[in-house]
Amino acid sequence: MLSIDRIESGYGLVPALRGVSLRVAPGEIVAVLGPNGAGKSTLLRTVSGLLATRSGAISLNGRRLDGLPAHKIARLGVAHVVEGRGILPNLTIRDNLRLGSFLRASRAGEQEGLDAALDRFPWMRPRLGDLGGRLSGGQQQMLAIARALLGEPKVLLLDEPSLGLAPKIIDELFEVIGRLATDDRAVLIVEQQVHRCLRVATRGYVLQRGRVVLSDSAEALRGDERIERAYLS
Ligand SMILES: Nc1ncnc2c1ncn2[C@@H]1O[C@H](COP(=O)(O)OP(=O)(O)OP(=O)(O)O)[C@@H](O)[C@H]1O
Ligand SMILES: [Mg+2]
Repeated sequence: MLSIDRIESGYGLVPALRGVSLRVAPGEIVAVLGPNGAGKSTLLRTVSGLLATRSGAISLNGRRLDGLPAHKIARLGVAHVVEGRGILPNLTIRDNLRLGSFLRASRAGEQEGLDAALDRFPWMRPRLGDLGGRLSGGQQQMLAIARALLGEPKVLLLDEPSLGLAPKIIDELFEVIGRLATDDRAVLIVEQQVHRCLRVATRGYVLQRGRVVLSDSAEALRGDERIERAYLS
């Protein structure tokens, strides 16, 4: 269970998150929605330790994460797929995936992890020697997700995975995303594709100017006009 309690963080003097609290349990896909500049990416950056928490607490299964450096947080089971994917274009698919395996607790099971990734994304199998940069945007996004999964994260943070992708590819991507949560893995996803996202999510939070203004089950949020209002104001 990832618990975020009244965290504040930001850039320079400007607070971007003003007391955000949120919970994500294993098996859940939790959506973070909200207009541009609401603080969605900042929230993910704060959880993964790319940005320091100024107050409040973040813990994973009771272990405090705030204050730890990003690489320790990653080792404790938080994988962050940043906006723009962050795969290495000059490395092959195989080597991009290998990078993900570095975060595994032990070398044992590395091959099984790779096999599982290739079962999830069968199109990668014949292309393991291709450079990451040769892939389409959607494939790069899937590679970034596969790489994150190889570290066996307990929490997977996805920042706008569908950004810049064609509608058909977005549908495929959400198919993949809908199957990412397991009994010991939770997903926290930031998306502009509100409706698609709420179809795969279990719950959602709406952020506005650094605060949670609405949170409910995905079912209740679908078609809730308060979402529309949050985006307009
Ligand atoms: N590197 C930065 N330096 C200074 N201010 C920043 C920086 N990144 C974000 N901000 C500011 O922090 C606030 C929250 O930004 P954030 O990127 O978290 O929003 P977001 O909800 O992810 O928006 P978007 O939908 O555009 O991705 C905004 O006011 C933004 O201008
Ligand atoms: Mg963002």
